Amino acid sequence: MNDEASGSTPILQMRDIRKAYGPVRVLEDVNLELSTGEVRCLAGENGSGKSTLIKILSGVVSADAGQVSLNGRQLGNDPMGAITAGLSVIYQDFSLFPNLSVWENIGFLTSVTSADVLHKRSARRRLAIDTLKRMQVEIDPDAPVELLPVASKQLVAIARALANRARIIVMDEPTTALTRSEVAHLLEIVSALKKEGVSFLFVSHKIEEVFAVCDTVTVLRDGSVVVEGPIGEFDTERLVEAMTGRSVDSQRLPREESQVQRPFLAASGLGRRGNFVDVDLELRPGEIVSVVGLLAPAEPNSPRPCSAT
Ligand SMILES: Nc1ncnc2c1ncn2[C@@H]1O[C@H](COP(=O)(O)OP(=O)(O)OP(=O)(O)O)[C@@H](O)[C@H]1O
Ligand SMILES: [Mg+2]
Repeated sequence: MNDEASGSTPILQMRDIRKAYGPVRVLEDVNLELSTGEVRCLAGENGSGKSTLIKILSGVVSADAGQVSLNGRQLGNDPMGAITAGLSVIYQDFSLFPNLSVWENIGFLTSVTSADVLHKRSARRRLAIDTLKRMQVEIDPDAPVELLPVASKQLVAIARALANRARIIVMDEPTTALTRSEVAHLLEIVSALKKEGVSFLFVSHKIEEVFAVCDTVTVLRDGSVVVEGPIGEFDTERLVEAMTGRSVDSQRLPREESQVQRPFLAASGLGRRGNFVDVDLELRPGEIVSVVGLLAPAEPNSPRPCSAT
């Protein structure tokens, strides 16, 4: 947290938020605050209520009870009101227009929220270029978004938020489809923007990232805040325990007998044109083998990398 953040009035306050879908209670009296330049992680297991809380914050879903205020002003169930008040939510699909260029996507919200409906194209293109420069990101402003790799799309979504003068950026599971170096780059950008006073609510399951970038953490379990506080008060065990409600045993499991048995499924040198090349795979009795790979745009006529462990 920067100096401005510590002890300052929260820029965002969510008070006693409650939400149920029919008989299912999704959120129970949730409180969350964010100060200027603070990066807060919203952590919790699948189904703990994180996305619902974000949707209530952005005005897309209405709460059954409770209040959301931005800069001391109460927000209603009003997505445009939330955007013009400086809130920007980046969902996992980034909500970009694939057939429009990078600059058209970055300038899109300004064309909608600006009082000047005819906000000039040249001015929006200039704004997009300046915003990418501010983020120290090199992306061709005229490239169609659909041709960009996932990591660049995400940076375009952040640039769109900044171009629209977002003061709070909410990112729902932003690193799921990124490589290690792309995650590191994203975290650098978050840290730099935080120094400019931008606040972040960062939804993540990934413990390493939480410790790398967040100042504070709020843990949701079954729709309730079980613990919150500065990240310095947590270690991995405490955080995982808060998320799962179970204590963690991080002992290594002994090597199972199955791992030294002969494989009952073995493949070697498998290939399929345009998909993968030279894949070896073995599966032994009692073993769980995961096949992992990155999301990548299909390159015409070239095989995609594929890894198996
Ligand atoms: N529109 C809906 N109608 C009914 N139940 C819903 C609806 N949206 C969410 N839920 C339920 O609310 C609970 C919380 O869901 P939510 O998506 O907020 O969790 P989450 O913490 O974001 O999970 P994940 O980590 O999987 O994204 C879940 O039990 C989910 O099934
Ligand atoms: Mg979710």
